[in-house]
Amino acid sequence: MEKTDTVRRYADDRIEISYDAHRCIHAAECLRGLPAVFDSDRRPWIMPSEAGADEIAAVIAKCPSGALHFKRFDGGPEESPQLPTTVLPMPAGPLYVRGLVQLRSADGSSLFEDLRMALCRCGQSHNKPFCDNSHVFAGFDDPGRVPGTPVKDR
Ligand code: SF4
Ligand code: FES
Repeated sequence: MEKTDTVRRYADDRIEISYDAHRCIHAAECLRGLPAVFDSDRRPWIMPSEAGADEIAAVIAKCPSGALHFKRFDGGPEESPQLPTTVLPMPAGPLYVRGLVQLRSADGSSLFEDLRMALCRCGQSHNKPFCDNSHVFAGFDDPGRVPGTPVKDR
């Protein structure tokens, strides 16, 4: 699932957390979800021993970019894909894709697979096709409305 060599790993005997800084868009689901484990003001900023493996797995599954993943050593369940695969245009932000996702090059060869991705829809990312948060500085302003679909239903 990992595309770059910017992945760092943090492990104890129950779970390994991997973090790819190249994919993180600072959505902060991790910091909000488990501040004892994920604390960007601390070094190391990820400490798996500070919570239960199930709690950690649940928070990692919320990471919209796929920057975070886990591997269980305690027999607990690995992350399973959320199906059906969905594409969610975030207001003034990227496309959040969840499910069984294969990202392919223009010639159709499979490049990369993951369960979660945040893909650029503003055109300004320096890490295309992934979002890198450049939409914030570019002033991208699109509500993400899907034609025929009321925003409140998304
Ligand atoms: S994108 Fe993932 S790793 Fe980055 S801050 Fe958000 S939840 Fe944490
Ligand atoms: S949508 Fe985030 S950089 Fe384009």
